[in-house]
Amino acid sequence: MRSACEFVTHNPAETHEVGRTLGKGLHGGEIVLLFGPLGAGKTVFVQGLAEGLGLRPEEVRSPAYTLINEHPGKVSLFHADLYRLSPESLVDLGLEEIYGDDQVVAVEWAERLEEAGWDLVDAVTVEIDCHPTEDETRMIMLNALVPQVS
Ligand SMILES: Nc1ncnc2c1ncn2[C@@H]1O[C@H](COP(=O)(O)OP(=O)(O)OP(=O)(O)O)[C@@H](O)[C@H]1O
Ligand SMILES: [Mg+2]
Repeated sequence: MRSACEFVTHNPAETHEVGRTLGKGLHGGEIVLLFGPLGAGKTVFVQGLAEGLGLRPEEVRSPAYTLINEHPGKVSLFHADLYRLSPESLVDLGLEEIYGDDQVVAVEWAERLEEAGWDLVDAVTVEIDCHPTEDETRMIMLNALVPQVS
């Protein structure tokens, strides 16, 4: 069963807080796909996520030039930014090898995965909708697969 919720944030601190709340609920083994335009707040969200996982949020920066940054911890965070990646280069990235029970993978510009034909049905998706040039309001849509309790 998929569970969805929406948040409206009015400043970066509120987006950070939504990320932190999600991070506190993750145990490792999850992949978090972030969608949204330049400046939407994906990195701000991942900083909150890191804090929720017990990691240092200030060490999370946009990994635009490194593709993937690792933040080691009890549950480690792998933070990827696929903005500059062509669909062909995805194969070389080895994203599928990063999955593990003790780590969370957060991917900015997850649109690139879709363009390359990946179908990550059990991922947590975070869609940030905004008009960055207009104001600081962001609409955040979280969608996750929730295990069925019977
Ligand atoms: N409600 C908000 N939530 C998050 N960030 C906000 C908000 N309002 C304003 N901002 C500003 O928008 C910017 C978001 O930057 P951030 O690097 O997180 O975006 P991004 O989605 O990761 O962009 P990119 O695609 O370039 O990686 C920051 O400068 C932040 O201060
Ligand atoms: Mg970013």
